[in-house]
Amino acid sequence: MQSQYCVSLASIQKAHRVIHDLVHQTPVLTNSTLDKRAERKIFLKCELFQKTGSFKIRGALNAVASLSERRQNGKEVPAVVTHSSGNHGQALALAAQMQGIPSYVVVPRNAPACKKAAILEYGAHIVECEPSDQSRMETVSKVIAETKGIQIHSNQDPLVIAGQGTIGLEILQQVPDVQAVVVPVGGGGMVSGITVAIKTQRPQVKVYAAEPEKADDCYQSKQSGCLTPNRYAPVTIADGVKTSIGEKTWPIIRDLVDDVFTVSEEEIKRATRLMWERAKLVIEPTAGVGIAVVLSPRFRNLPGNLRNVCVVLCGGNVDLDSLEWLKVTE
Ligand SMILES: Cc1ncc(COP(=O)(O)O)c(C=O)c1O
Repeated sequence: MQSQYCVSLASIQKAHRVIHDLVHQTPVLTNSTLDKRAERKIFLKCELFQKTGSFKIRGALNAVASLSERRQNGKEVPAVVTHSSGNHGQALALAAQMQGIPSYVVVPRNAPACKKAAILEYGAHIVECEPSDQSRMETVSKVIAETKGIQIHSNQDPLVIAGQGTIGLEILQQVPDVQAVVVPVGGGGMVSGITVAIKTQRPQVKVYAAEPEKADDCYQSKQSGCLTPNRYAPVTIADGVKTSIGEKTWPIIRDLVDDVFTVSEEEIKRATRLMWERAKLVIEPTAGVGIAVVLSPRFRNLPGNLRNVCVVLCGGNVDLDSLEWLKVTE
């Protein structure tokens, strides 16, 4: 069944062996207030506690480790390059540092200072570009030409997708009686990897993608049956999922993801607050999308015998300078 897709259970299991000792096996927590409101047992896969504060290190590390293998076989790997103002940039920086490979991250010049600081702290070179897709692409090409570096795409690289799939392997071990998994979707690397990991072993477990209404390309694609990217740059508080799904992730989403649920900005804010307030989990709003889905009327209408639902809390990187009362002066 899997040969038509860019990842397989075998490639995800291999990724797990590669990254296992280098990343955290994140805990699964529960919260009774959430259970009550969702009217199901909700299991929280806490990737906000992952190295670099999001699941992204899994895929980045798997991709960079494979380049280290090439290096050991005598091939040159001068650097890795990506564009990301968010979690993938930090993850690639740390992954490259761990494997002793220089990294270059192209970042829009108006990206929050805290994100640039984190990327620098993990040892990457930052190359600033204008805040437009065209400038990002041109700058990446320039950096690749200058450094002979290899680009690691944040969600369409098969090694990255396989790395993200290791979350699915862990969920099946940590929550053996799981009946459904809810995964926020941006470019679809995480949901595709998790879906292949789960459906090949336990096809009866449902996998649902979670998306903001304001960035609903995955929902629109599933509705129409053909890849339908966002037509305009989405404006949503869930900044990790503004990206559209792509050519590599669409076939997996089309064939294997059971459904896509969308939620409003208000629902995302309420869900994020609930996790901070009641579960004491400082998630970023993108992770709040998954919580908002399990609390949404449409999800609550799913059959009541779907008892055990796991939500991937994909990240916890919040720009604390955006919280006025928590600002410090230096
Ligand atoms: C915290 C967080 N969650 C979810 C996503 C979406 O992941 P994907 O692009 O693999 O769908 C991202 C992507 O940057 C992210 O940073």
